[in-house]
Order: sequence, then structure tokens, then C-alpha cells
Amino acid sequence: MEKKEIVLSGIRPTGNLHLGNYFGAVKNFVKMQETHTCFFFIADYHSLTTHPTPGNLQQNVRQVLVEYLAAGLNPEKATLYLQSDLPETAELYLFLNMNAYMGELERVTTFKEKARKQPDNINAGLLTYPTLMAADIIIHKANKVPVGKDQEQNLEMARTFARRFNHMYNVEFFPQPSAFNFGEELVKIPGLDGSGKMGKSEGEGNAIFLMDDPKVLRKKVMRAVSDSGPTEINQVKPEPIENLFSLLKVVSQPDVVDYFNDQYNNCNIRYGDLKKQLAEDMIAFTAPIRERIAELNADQDYITRVMNLGAEKARESGRHTVEEVRQIIGFRKYYPFT
Ligand code: TRP
Repeated sequence: MEKKEIVLSGIRPTGNLHLGNYFGAVKNFVKMQETHTCFFFIADYHSLTTHPTPGNLQQNVRQVLVEYLAAGLNPEKATLYLQSDLPETAELYLFLNMNAYMGELERVTTFKEKARKQPDNINAGLLTYPTLMAADIIIHKANKVPVGKDQEQNLEMARTFARRFNHMYNVEFFPQPSAFNFGEELVKIPGLDGSGKMGKSEGEGNAIFLMDDPKVLRKKVMRAVSDSGPTEINQVKPEPIENLFSLLKVVSQPDVVDYFNDQYNNCNIRYGDLKKQLAEDMIAFTAPIRERIAELNADQDYITRVMNLGAEKARESGRHTVEEVRQIIGFRKYYPFT
């Protein structure tokens, strides 16, 4: 049998999933689990850089897992696990850190940004974020890493660390992971505030969460930024209007999009009508996911079983890598955790 390519991605356990996450990432993951050997993990070690309380950590990790399951990730098809349930990751991180240099780590944009945002908490975990991320990826010898643009430099570092290890020990052990998007081009999902992409840090009302109650959702959409309407036939749409149409395109039927497009082009569009339609189509789209979130939240035993299954599958893959790494490095052949 042909060996499937290994896909891996990490999920930060922060906040709830919104439509931007769904159409920008999760939908891809759901498709990939059908065709690739997939590992998706919740990056709970990484989350310690911001010092969550034990209660918050637990709660966030569970909620993220619930929402990803509700959105269609399947624990039987993909390996869904918590990073901390594969502690060999931390060991590999230690090894990689011995060959990761201060200068190169300090130059990473995501580090510089975070250091700027939290000047009182520039900890070593923040600096070595790329080595931990590299360990996450190469512990399963992943080939493809579906991540957003903002993570490309971290991925480049992962390639560097993998190459450096191979070179140092003169082995062809770790493959070079590359960025990956599945199927059609990634859709950029704009927010409701008139400019830029959907995100939870862009302010109240900008993002539509899968969890949003229909009432809240309607309110957010009705308040979305628009303008006073086109004044010329076939006028180019300004950004806030283009954004509303982009959202319509992902949740509504093509004839609905065409209808409002014609209305716009003929200068008789009523944004109120468009927004009402958009809100209802978003509600129809999110309703089954929201129901599933509620069901899963009511069955924490199931969530625990999903975590246990994931931990088992992840360790089955990851611990072999680290066992071999220990031997390549020159440690004695003894593995205490089997
Ligand atoms: N850094 C990623 C983010 O912020 C999360 C992440 C951690 C990750 N480890 C990873 C992504 C490994 C891909 C592969 O979104």
C-alpha cells in the first residue's frame, strides 16, 4: 500500500471558533482527514507562555476540542490529541534547543510581536516557540503543515532545525516539512467591521462564532459596516460591501449572491435585505454545529475518551521517533516509558 503523506497542524487553545477559522482552516482539516494521515493537536504546552490558570487551561482545551469535533474532525480518522499527552515532544524540544541559536530565535517576527505585546513577560518559552513547534512537526515526521501565512517563518525554522539535526548526525532522518493548503485556494473571510479579516481580537462584533446564538448573530450582522449605496450602474464595490458579498458567497446559495449582485449593479440594493438574508443563511449554516457543540459539551466522558484515544495514537507514532533520536544522539538504548 502506498504510504500516505503525513499532515500535521497545531491548534491554539484560545477562544471559540469563528467563521474565519472554519472556512480558513477547519474545513480543510476535515477534508484532509479523508485522504492523508493526519495529526491535529491542541497546543497546550505553547499556551503556557501566557500563564493560564489550571482551571482556564482545562476549560479552554476541552472547549476547543469540542468545537473541532462539532465542526467535523473525526477522532477515528485523524489523530486528535493534546500536545501535553505526548511528553516526548518536550524531550525532542530539549534536543533541538541545543542547536537553536539566540540570534535566529530573536529574529523571528512572531517572537518580536509577542515581545512587544507582553513586555513584562518575555519568557524563554516565547523565545523558543519555534523549536517547540519544530518538535511538534518532526516528532511525527510530518511532510505537510497546513498553516496560515503568519506561521510561515516558524515553519521555515522547523525546516532549518530538521536539516540541522540530519546534518549534525549525518542521517536522513527528518523530512523537510512544507506549508500546505488543500484543494481550492484558501478563502479569506473578512470581518464585519468593514476592513480586514475576521478575528476575535479585532473588537466586539467583528467575528461570527460557530457558537453564537441566532439572536446575537443577527444583531452582529445587522450592525455590520456598509455605506450609503452605489450611485452608478456597475460601480466597483468598496471594501465593506465587498466583504458582505464575500460572506454571502460562503454561506448562501449562488442564486442568492447573483440576486444581490444584480441589485447592487442596478443601484437598487437594500443593504438591510442583504444583511437579513446573510444572517439567516449564517444561522442555517451554524445551527447543526451549534447543536453538536451542545451535545458534546453534555458528554464530557466522551471528550475524555477522545483525548485518551488521541494520546494513545500520538504516542504510538511519536515515541518511536524520539527513541531513535536518542540513539542517534548517543544516549544508551533504554526507554523508560514503554
Ligand atoms: N504556532 C501555531 C499558531 O499559532 C500553532 C502551532 C503550534 C502549530 N505548533 C504547531 C501549527 C505545529 C502547525 C504545526 O497557530
